[in-house]
Amino acid sequence: MAKNIVLIGFMGVGKGSVAREIVRQSGIVAVDTDDLIESMENRKIKKIFEEEGEPYFRERERRVAKWLHKNVDNTLVSTGGGFYKVKNLHKIGTVVLLHADFDTIYRRIVEHPNAERKLKKRPLFQDVAKARALYDEREPQYMEVADVVIDVSGKSVEKVAEEIIEKVMQ
Ligand code: S3P
Repeated sequence: MAKNIVLIGFMGVGKGSVAREIVRQSGIVAVDTDDLIESMENRKIKKIFEEEGEPYFRERERRVAKWLHKNVDNTLVSTGGGFYKVKNLHKIGTVVLLHADFDTIYRRIVEHPNAERKLKKRPLFQDVAKARALYDEREPQYMEVADVVIDVSGKSVEKVAEEIIEKVMQ
């Protein structure tokens, strides 16, 4: 049971939008690890970080990873930006990295009509310098763990989704 696609990448790179577009184009069922954690907890990620702290959230991610591995098949799994650190990520499915440089990601967030909400809901994107440092630390690790790397800069969501369907689902 591992015919899933696992979308990883930094906050704001567009994992959610790309997942929705893949669903639209292919009809695959999709789940999102942050959404699963929010529904398990009946509170938002921001609240979980505030009330319990990051280690608690990471433990929930590990729990979700185990559940996905044991129970989920033929599904597109979009993930939170730190989910790639769970053990046995590859057992869940083919790992696809959405890649862009930090400035492209930052621009994408601040130019969004809902920019304020997009920033507010992300506890680790409150300080741009810290987010950039986190990006620099993570990017090589994302690259290492990815089976497939998709450069999203300058591409439409539709094009990125097409590329993933072609490379991973055919
Ligand atoms: C996180 C990314 C968030 C969310 C949490 C932690 C991270 O998801 O899981 O705020 O560690 O990068 P997005 O990548 O969807 O913003």
